[in-house]
Order: sequence, then C-alpha cells, then structure tokens
Amino acid sequence: MINTDPDAPRPISSDWLTLRRPADEAARQASLPLLAELQAFLTAEEVPDGDEQPVRIFDLGAGTGANQAWLAPQLNATQPQLKQQWTLIDHDPALLEHTMSEPSIDGVIGTEAVVAGIEDLEQILRGDTEAAGHLRFVTCSALLDLLTTTQLDTLCAALAESHTAALFSLSVTGTMTIEPADPLDDSLNKAFNLHQNRGGRAGARGVDLTQQFLADAGFTVTTVDTPWELRGKHTALIERFLSDRADAVLEEEPSLAEDLNQWLARRAEQAAAGSLRLTIGHRDLLALPPRQ
Ligand SMILES: C[S@@+](CC[C@H](N)C(=O)[O-])C[C@H]1O[C@@H](n2cnc3c(N)ncnc32)[C@H](O)[C@@H]1O
Repeated sequence: MINTDPDAPRPISSDWLTLRRPADEAARQASLPLLAELQAFLTAEEVPDGDEQPVRIFDLGAGTGANQAWLAPQLNATQPQLKQQWTLIDHDPALLEHTMSEPSIDGVIGTEAVVAGIEDLEQILRGDTEAAGHLRFVTCSALLDLLTTTQLDTLCAALAESHTAALFSLSVTGTMTIEPADPLDDSLNKAFNLHQNRGGRAGARGVDLTQQFLADAGFTVTTVDTPWELRGKHTALIERFLSDRADAVLEEEPSLAEDLNQWLARRAEQAAAGSLRLTIGHRDLLALPPRQ
C-alpha cells in the first residue's frame, strides 16, 4: 500500500548521502576539539581490563556509514591502541546494506549493522551493559533535526539512564545565507524550516533541545558550529540541495510555486556559473555523563 501520510518518515536516498560526504567531512574539521575531549574522557574511564577492551561505538541513523568512515580513522590516528567495535543502527535496511561493502578501517575490529529505531536504543544499550563492562559512546551525524521531539526525549533518556557519552554531529540549525542574496531567500528559508517541523519533528531546534535535556540530566555539554561552506566547486551538491529545498518549500507553501520556480531558475543559473556561496548552519554536540 502506498503511504500517503505527508508526516511519515521519508527514505533518505543513498546518492544524496554520497553527494554530501565531502562537505560533511570538511565541516567536521571544526569539531576535532570535541573529539579530543571525548578521547580524554574515555582514557580517564576506569573499566575492568580497560587496556584490552575495545571501545563500543553505537552510530544512530548510520545510513550508508559516513559517520564511521570519518570518525573511526580520526579516533585511530590519535589512539591507535584503542580498538573500535561499531554497531551501525538505522531503520532503513536498504541504506545499511551499503555499509557492508565499505572498505576496512584501521583500528576497527568489528562492525555490525542493526535495523532498529531510536526507541530501541535503550534496550540495545541495556543488553550491551549486561554483556560486559567497557568503554562506549553513542554517536550520530545529520540525524537530530530529523527526529520528533518525542524521539529526542527517548534518545536523551536512554543516554541518561545508561550514563553513556554522546557525540552528535552535523545537526541542522536552520540558518542559511546565500551570496549573492536574493529577495526571496528569507521567506523561502522560513517556509523550509516550518516544513522541517512537520509531524512533531524537532527540525532546527533539535540540537538545542538535546543540549538542554542532557545538561538538565547532569551531562557536561559542549557544542561547536560546523557549517557547510559551499562554493563553486560544489556545483552538484549545491544544485541538489537547492532543488530538494524547493520541493520542501512547495509542499509547505504551495502558493509560493511561481516565485519558487523563478527563484530556482535564477539560483540554478548562478550555481552552474559557479558564482554561488552558501553557508548552511550545522552544530556538533558532545555530552559527557557525570562520573558515577
Ligand atoms: C540524513 S541521513 C544521515 C545518514 C548518515 N549518518 C550520514 O551522515 O550520512 C539520516 C539517517 O537517519 C536514519 N533515520 C531517520 N530517522 C530514524 C529513526 N527514527 N531511527 C533510526 N534511523 C533513523 C535515516 O534512515 C538516515 O539513514
């Protein structure tokens, strides 16, 4: 049966995830200090047989594995002695399928793919704790803004309950500037951000809500801005980003159709000429639980 609920989760296409990888990786350079903090936290943890235990890493909304592909080598570069055991979690089995053909990464001793949703995290972490005491953290990239506020609460509650650290990357913050500016940019951005809130989704508030929840639960939370800086060389990504954005705006505000078509035509011409500069807000968040 065709799902006609406009608020239902939509599959993310693997070619979009491939297209955005280089921009994500460039943006994440700004979050290296968060990674260093996380590593210092893990190093200071006292665990039985800590020297031999791998760090267990749970990647939520793993998609085609881009978060692991970036994060695992970064961890290995500075802590090669710490072996990594990854669990890639996503509710879309078709995307997880791609992770199985990813090349092996130094320092990663095992990767399993699990088809599951946010609501399953608590049980996954509980089962993991029963298996053995060990180092671990939960991570995600480009996910928080897609979750409903209820799912964010569930996610944060699972972390608080299990005293698990988290590194959440590349959450959309709702800001976007395009140079040269266009008179329609602001109204289209507003309509787009409203679209991101459909069906109770957190949208641009996702990262702030997560920060608030975890700080209230006693976590030490640090954030850093990791915007995409897209220039002429990113033409394919810019064109796709703008046309997907226009589709979302049209759904939110059908009365803007004519303006939107003209805006997109202007923007497509500028993108093809390599004359657009886009800054799209993202933020990374590190949450370290209180010591027990
Ligand atoms: C924008 S993609 C990011 C994928 C990957 N982390 C990356 O950076 O390329 C968001 C991913 O989250 C998954 N996802 C969205 N909502 C989810 C949920 N409630 N439970 C599990 N996975 C979810 C989607 O299937 C998709 O793979």
